[in-house]
Amino acid sequence: MKEKKIAVLGLGYVGLPLALQLSFSYNVLGYDIDDIRIKELRKGIDKTLEVSEPLLKKQQKNGLFFTTCSKDISDCNFYIATVPTPIDVRKKPDFSALKKVCETIGKLLVYGDTVIFESTVYPGATEEICGPILEKFSKNLKAGKDFFLGYSPERVNPGDKVHTIDKINKVVSGQTQKVEKDLLEIYKNLTSGEVYLAKSIKVAEASKVIENAQRDINIAFINEVAKICTKVNISSYDVLEASLTKWNFLNFEPGLVGGHCIGVDPYYLAEKAKNLNVRPEVILSGRSTNDNMVKFVGKEIIKKLPPSSSCLFLGVTFKENVPDLRNSKSLELMKYLEKKNIKISFYDPFIEHLKGFKSFKKKNLTNKKFDGIILSVPHKKMLLNFKQNFLSLLKKEGFFFDVKGKFRNKKISNYWSL
Ligand SMILES: NC(=O)c1ccc[n+]([C@@H]2O[C@H](COP(=O)([O-])OP(=O)(O)OC[C@H]3O[C@@H](n4cnc5c(N)ncnc54)[C@H](O)[C@@H]3O)[C@@H](O)[C@H]2O)c1
Repeated sequence: MKEKKIAVLGLGYVGLPLALQLSFSYNVLGYDIDDIRIKELRKGIDKTLEVSEPLLKKQQKNGLFFTTCSKDISDCNFYIATVPTPIDVRKKPDFSALKKVCETIGKLLVYGDTVIFESTVYPGATEEICGPILEKFSKNLKAGKDFFLGYSPERVNPGDKVHTIDKINKVVSGQTQKVEKDLLEIYKNLTSGEVYLAKSIKVAEASKVIENAQRDINIAFINEVAKICTKVNISSYDVLEASLTKWNFLNFEPGLVGGHCIGVDPYYLAEKAKNLNVRPEVILSGRSTNDNMVKFVGKEIIKKLPPSSSCLFLGVTFKENVPDLRNSKSLELMKYLEKKNIKISFYDPFIEHLKGFKSFKKKNLTNKKFDGIILSVPHKKMLLNFKQNFLSLLKKEGFFFDVKGKFRNKKISNYWSL
């Protein structure tokens, strides 16, 4: 079992839980270019809150090792890259981290090594972008002959304590039968879920990117429904509850789609489509509908408030129960409202300070009441005693904006939700 020595490169939301879980079965080294991240991990601190301190410390005692030095991982025979694949300002795939990590791995490659990618990409990227860079930086090694490529898309869902890395079904793929066999072995040791062998690397890449694009499009449809419902003065959540009594109605909710997966991955698929002269109309229309929800929600809030109102904004991360602010549409909504002269105090149990915004501390409150309370990201931690802790801070004529409809059945007056 220990003959496979695995390096996981990129220890973020995906890479750290992966390295930790693999370390129960293999000799694992974690590599990241972020010095602070490595220092924290060595102390057992995971700022992403995906992994517990005792477990992180225990597995380090059992051999899991974290480093920023690529030499430390040079005698590994399996390299798994879990680096970010974001979009640039033009909303085009930004492969810079992926290219850089290929350079790092390429320099370390020896005959017989395997390089597995977990980063989300479009079909073809592993073999067309990563393979040639690995070859270029290796010592004249050829992909598929001297070293081998594999791809296994990641499905973990930050903040989700049910569909965890040790239980979810995984898709794997490899350049040769030997790689397929190795990946099946590695990932069967990782998860108690099904490990599905895709027909090719391209199929595995495509399977991941369409999962997230499909989700984005479905949410976009429901967001459009929510806009219509707002105009006819009914709650989209009430409509959805009724529709869901039909056996084949799909369960999606309206909302702000942020983060670095659902709001990003469709652009990878769209880019591939454009390169192939296929117009990604549905994909991009979904993206634009979801992106425009910030403005829609912002306008609905402003309509109901007196000019220069003061509002308490609750939840600013990109989704519930995670500390991640990247591409947060709630943060965008808060900025939008501020620009429209709404005075914002914010509270988020995961975020203490935000440049340019006043953070709300109950103990500093001097009889102040708000014109509006906006519950944008309903973190579990905030929902306990919500009425007492937050709604009590609303002026008598004040409005409660419950973006995700958490309290829609509670008969609250001056209430709005999507
Ligand atoms: N977070 C999710 O929910 C999720 C789910 C499924 C798939 N994915 C995909 O997984 C990939 C990683 O996402 P993430 O959320 O873990 O990203 P992240 O930003 O949380 O972590 C990435 C880590 O990679 C490191 N890094 C960047 N460049 C590097 C390099 N050249 N060498 C080594 N380390 C480097 C960063 O310092 C960071 O610690 C992306 O392709 C993403 O689309 C993410």
